[in-house]
Amino acid sequence: VSEPDHEFPPLRSVRDRPHRVTLTHGLLHPDNTRLRECVRHRTALVVTSPTVDRLYGRRIRAYFGPIPGVHYSVLHRGEATKSIDAAVEISERASAAGLCRTSPVIAFGGGVCTDICGLAAALHHRGIPHIKVPTTLIGLVDAGIGMKNAVNHDGRKSVLGSFHPPEHSLLDPGFLGTLPRRHLSSGLAEIIKLAVVADGDLFDLVEASARAMLDSGFRAPAEVVTAVVRRSVAGMLAELARNPYEVTDFRRKVDFGHTFSPWLETASQHTVLHGEAVALDIALSTELAADLGLITAAERERVLDLLRCSGLPLSWPATSVDGLWASLRSVVDHRNGDLHLVVPTAIGDCTFVEARAISPGLLRACLDRLGRHDSTARPDRLSGVRA
Ligand SMILES: NC(=O)c1ccc[n+]([C@@H]2O[C@H](COP(=O)([O-])OP(=O)(O)OC[C@H]3O[C@@H](n4cnc5c(N)ncnc54)[C@H](O)[C@@H]3O)[C@@H](O)[C@H]2O)c1
Ligand SMILES: [Zn+2]
Repeated sequence: VSEPDHEFPPLRSVRDRPHRVTLTHGLLHPDNTRLRECVRHRTALVVTSPTVDRLYGRRIRAYFGPIPGVHYSVLHRGEATKSIDAAVEISERASAAGLCRTSPVIAFGGGVCTDICGLAAALHHRGIPHIKVPTTLIGLVDAGIGMKNAVNHDGRKSVLGSFHPPEHSLLDPGFLGTLPRRHLSSGLAEIIKLAVVADGDLFDLVEASARAMLDSGFRAPAEVVTAVVRRSVAGMLAELARNPYEVTDFRRKVDFGHTFSPWLETASQHTVLHGEAVALDIALSTELAADLGLITAAERERVLDLLRCSGLPLSWPATSVDGLWASLRSVVDHRNGDLHLVVPTAIGDCTFVEARAISPGLLRACLDRLGRHDSTARPDRLSGVRA
């Protein structure tokens, strides 16, 4: 006679991990104690990229100079080598530096650096703390303030990753002064993403000052730069806070611009930057919305104009409808069974379109229109923003 099955009480595994986000200025100034306070005399591994090392390495080392136990390491990885072995490499360096379960990894760099370090921190000893110090615009408003960390694998973008919140994100827009213009534009794409779907006032701000901010390396107009960064960070955090582990809902506004972009990045072998791929996706999704009668021609024009004024592309000549279609199908798996394509309905508002509303023919028609748009872009449009 077999015994009946016995059901044990389920284990609960809720863990409260506060993630602090601070906007500061002069982070590396010896009198700014923010970062030293975050380290709290723990052993730590600072990781940075070769470019950030060249530009800021001396100051980073000087800042930590008096603190014993802070190790410094340069990671030679870019988007094309942002893979699982990069996270393993950081784990090995963490062991060599003597990090224990409470020792943080401190990522000083762009999204590539913070993603790799965040994933390494999630894996090392099954999870050690990490701190993000983003030094790019994408980092400041997106990659450096989220708790997602992913690497590319098997020709697929961000397919291996973790939800592992940093202890702290320390944001200093002063780093943007050395960022090449192309990367500033790339960061603007993430800001425009948020503005279009959730914050019409932010859109107006960027529309009025994109060119001035780009021309000044995001130094001027100072009050506008501060307002844009603050509003973008606040808006992004509010969206993330609604559904931090993405389990309650797969309809996320901030997925705008992130349905076709993974394919564009991968197919271009990462010659198209992340933000540029997001811009191409925003343009295509907006064109689709116009075709489906969800947004007016005038508002579609404002979105496309702002992308252009921000130095972003509207079309990529090697785009293949088959590739986009495949990307769309794999996003359906990622979003738990349907597409939930985010499309704008007005500046500052959006809706979700499902897979049955999209066809390869529709994609082709929208791409053709965008290609014509791009080639007929008038120089006066490119040089100015709306009055
Ligand atoms: N985890 C997330 O939530 C999230 C969100 C958005 C983007 N991302 C990821 O972020 C990556 C893109 O990030 P990115 O645009 O920061 O790219 P990146 O990390 O490749 O940085 C761009 C380049 O700028 C250099 N750099 C960094 N700071 C600099 C500075 N202050 N001055 C001069 N050069 C500097 C870097 O060394 C690099 O060469 C993509 O891999 C994307 O998938 C992740
Ligand atoms: Zn993005």
